[in-house]
Amino acid sequence: MAGLAPNARSRRIEESATLAISAQAARLRAAGKDVVSLGAGEPDFWTPGPIAEAGIRAIEQGNTRYTPAPGTPELRAAGANWLQRTFGLRYTADEVMVCAGAKAALHIALDTIVEPGDSVLILAPYWVSYPALVAMADGKPVVLPAVPDAGFIHTAAAIDAAAKQSRARGILLNFPNNPSGVVPTRAQLQAIVDVAVANDLWIVSDEIYSMLLYDDAEHFSPAALPGGHERTIVVNGFTKSHTLTGWRTSFLAGPRAIVDAACRIQSQVLGNPCTISQAATLAACEIPLPDEQTRRMLAFDERRRYLLREINTIPGMHLSVPTGAFYALVDVRELCKARGIDDVTVCQQLLHQHLLAVVPGSAFAVPGFVRLSYAVAMEQLQKAIARLRDYAEGR
Ligand SMILES: Cc1ncc(COP(=O)(O)O)c(C=O)c1O
Repeated sequence: MAGLAPNARSRRIEESATLAISAQAARLRAAGKDVVSLGAGEPDFWTPGPIAEAGIRAIEQGNTRYTPAPGTPELRAAGANWLQRTFGLRYTADEVMVCAGAKAALHIALDTIVEPGDSVLILAPYWVSYPALVAMADGKPVVLPAVPDAGFIHTAAAIDAAAKQSRARGILLNFPNNPSGVVPTRAQLQAIVDVAVANDLWIVSDEIYSMLLYDDAEHFSPAALPGGHERTIVVNGFTKSHTLTGWRTSFLAGPRAIVDAACRIQSQVLGNPCTISQAATLAACEIPLPDEQTRRMLAFDERRRYLLREINTIPGMHLSVPTGAFYALVDVRELCKARGIDDVTVCQQLLHQHLLAVVPGSAFAVPGFVRLSYAVAMEQLQKAIARLRDYAEGR
């Protein structure tokens, strides 16, 4: 026997590009370099006290054993309530499953609906994991190229044509979008839902950034729009808004038959989401923290405005206004053209020559762009801008 080898499916799965950049930055930092890393999408704020304390209490009270596979009944009910209160979504507790982070919820959602070989539409720019998640469910990712010059919003006609051409069975949506920060209007989202209805597509809607909005942006879930509820699986949670990044919880909500199927899959794979983290997430659902939310949003907004001011004065770079999430997708097409290089080279040069870690747009199917996360302290952003400027001005 030649020894164990990974199978063909796992060989097709690449390491997440954003995690790879963060790992490179961490290695340089471990070697004593003063690296500024804008690679990771993780808020620099702590998990709020009352939520962390609920987790600590769970441990102290011995609330550390298995729960039902779909989560505790209290948390499923609280999740349904939170989705209704915050986004106007109508689900019973049975139509909500607690999962271990949005990533796992997306994986399980796709596992419940994709038949082998099904085409699934993905709108570029997309979060790095989507093609891999579709492929792991034995589906075929069909990527619609990014439309940077149309504000990254695909027209209904373009989505409709792609759905027909690929005979798509479903579409993955992510608004507010990582990496573009785009938040569609209600009318724009309704147009996409209408295409889904016309082509009988299911929708998996990744709404993990839905509480991070700026200016007058408003979040709508496709499940709250006419025609959307019965064909949509919603994935949401507190990962990004409340820094529950390491706690690994999320909600998956949708039609009862889909959620039942998701619960069966989860019972075989995960058993149940972490019991301690479920206690913390229950607190996140039940304890409003308006002051904490305001403090965070003011800080993110200040950084967003700073980046908009500064980047648009750097030669060869341009930033359009992001109105959601905490990412700036910087257009470096002009700089790439002038230097005869691509965005991957830009990122490698920034990292190795200027100790600045950012992610190439190519990782999100938007070449000619680089993504900066502004979920970092202002002084880190100021350093980052100085390094970007040095790079662009050839210093
Ligand atoms: C669009 C999007 N979906 C899902 C996730 C994963 O979230 P979680 O940490 O809850 O698994 C991320 C994290 O970066 C993301 O950007």
